[in-house]
Amino acid sequence: MSDLVGKHIVLGLSGGIACYKAAELCRAMTREGATVQVVMTAAAEQFITPVTMQALSNRTVYGSHDVSGFDAREANGMPHINLSREADAIVVAPCSADFMAKLLHGRADDLLSLMCLARPIATVPLLLAPAMNREMWAHPATQRNMAQLAADGATILGVGSGFQACGETGDGRMLEPPELLDDLIAFFQPKPLAGRQVLVTAGPTFEAIDPVRGLTNRSSGKMGFAIARAAREAGAAVTLVAGPVALPTPRGVTRVDVRSAREMLDATQAHLPARGVFVATAAVADWRPAEVKTEKIKKQDDGALPQLEFVENPDILATVAATPQAVQGELYCVGFAAESHDLLAHAQAKRARKKVPLLVGNIGPDTFGQDDNALVLVDAHGSRELPRASKLALARQLVADIAARLDRPHAEGVAR
Ligand code: C5P
Repeated sequence: MSDLVGKHIVLGLSGGIACYKAAELCRAMTREGATVQVVMTAAAEQFITPVTMQALSNRTVYGSHDVSGFDAREANGMPHINLSREADAIVVAPCSADFMAKLLHGRADDLLSLMCLARPIATVPLLLAPAMNREMWAHPATQRNMAQLAADGATILGVGSGFQACGETGDGRMLEPPELLDDLIAFFQPKPLAGRQVLVTAGPTFEAIDPVRGLTNRSSGKMGFAIARAAREAGAAVTLVAGPVALPTPRGVTRVDVRSAREMLDATQAHLPARGVFVATAAVADWRPAEVKTEKIKKQDDGALPQLEFVENPDILATVAATPQAVQGELYCVGFAAESHDLLAHAQAKRARKKVPLLVGNIGPDTFGQDDNALVLVDAHGSRELPRASKLALARQLVADIAARLDRPHAEGVAR
């Protein structure tokens, strides 16, 4: 809960029913450690009071009475200059269709639009969270304005879809506060994987015995989901092939749900990039029942026990590591090892066996289902420990490490 520590955000509210979500967003940003300065248009004040936003941000709100942009509370009388120069980012949420149109034309007849225009464009990013009726959103004028605003350097955070306050259903809802928060956190992360493709496998597999029973394991999928999120934050296009877990999909990540090891292999092969990174975190079942009964196995009156025979599952990582793109170093493969003891030795042996340039070891029983972990990175030259931290923090370190390997011209496992 400290991803925005040290960040000062100007949160601008323009008029729209989604102003009620801005209260939650403000709270979420402060919970992550940001300081938040709220600036509201007169229209926004029709939907939510400055008192609410002041209490949540713990700062005096700049509102519609500061219309001229000049304010006696400021030594120089110029909040539009001062507020925009202090900010690490200006986030307008909600950003109405009218406010977008205003920004597009560089108009500046209220403090918020004046401040957006006066911001140092090279150093203070402007992020917009549109919120409007679906017809307004789809209108060519709005779409044109949005494209031009993006060309002018604004970041458009996109919209949600669903039931709207007007009673209609479609695109144009403001994103939910947790989604906006994740987008803002991602915005501030470095982008060493920009333009790269990453495929991650995560979670356990489920191997059916009969229509109601199966074999699985205790993998929660959290480490793999954290790596998918971190890779996306780092700018990659990310596909996450997930076994049966109930975790939410990280923002901007394409998720493919599978159950069995064979389904996971099929999905992995179908989405494998020709160039990029493959990270296998999934705890794939080593074996599956040789035969899946079509009907539930019943208890026998004589107490006879069912006899299960097993066959070996495909090794997804080894299969991918043997593809031409991996062998030629176009696809950088990273494996995981969950061990219970002798972590380093097992990780080194597994790296050699799977023929991957990088293997990440962790102690399985210490991490299954937890939000934190400790990792050891093993490559051809040695090992490096990443001490216990949250899975997301470790995932970001791992992603940075992988990105640095891709950029190193003669790194092992990377095409020259
Ligand atoms: O052989 P072991 O299961 O210990 O290897 C772990 C590594 O191999 C992990 O990266 C895991 O995702 C991958 N793996 C796989 N397919 C399997 C077994 C393991 O991709 N059938």
